[in-house]
Amino acid sequence: MPSLIFATNNEHKLKEIQNLIHGGYKIIGLRELGLDEDIPETAESLEGNALLKARYIRDRYKLDCFADDTGLEVDALGGSPGVHSARYAGEDGNSGKNIDKLLDELKGKEDRNAQFRTVIALLLGDDEILFTGKVRGRILEKRRGNDGFGYDPVFLPEGCEQTFAEMPLKEKNKISHRARAMKKLVKFLEA
Ligand code: IMP
Repeated sequence: MPSLIFATNNEHKLKEIQNLIHGGYKIIGLRELGLDEDIPETAESLEGNALLKARYIRDRYKLDCFADDTGLEVDALGGSPGVHSARYAGEDGNSGKNIDKLLDELKGKEDRNAQFRTVIALLLGDDEILFTGKVRGRILEKRRGNDGFGYDPVFLPEGCEQTFAEMPLKEKNKISHRARAMKKLVKFLEA
């Protein structure tokens, strides 16, 4: 069975893709590869960061691999926080502070439309292929729910009554930006 490196240390993401891929490829995370350092994410776009991470692994290990990057893009903020979503409230910030800053920036704004967008960069031999997954929704004025992570408590996906932090993970994984991008990757690999 061919192996494919997923340039992540996030066990949840590894499990998510392993559940989607039904064999065919052995997916290996960075921990299994013995790499414990943070790969630089210095690009100014999600595409750029996904490519940076994947190329870092390919250049170092000469192995086929893929990497992902995600951002929350808010219409009224011109697509911010976008590629800066993880550190929106600063280097020593956290999800709580990020949400506080987001709600502050949106105070008094009528347009609360937003989307999560994930880009996956797949490097197979010399080929570089990008896959995108999006979920549109709205930023609420107050947090709802205790599950999930990041901006989940204030993100209400279109057509849903529960925020990402209120819905069971199984439900979120059916419609999420990351699941949609991963499904495109899996379809490509299985074709
Ligand atoms: P990453 O590229 O998956 O590490 O995501 C970057 C940042 O986007 C995270 O630190 C979170 O702030 C935010 N984010 C990504 N995915 C989600 C999600 O599914 N729910 C809420 N926030 C997310």
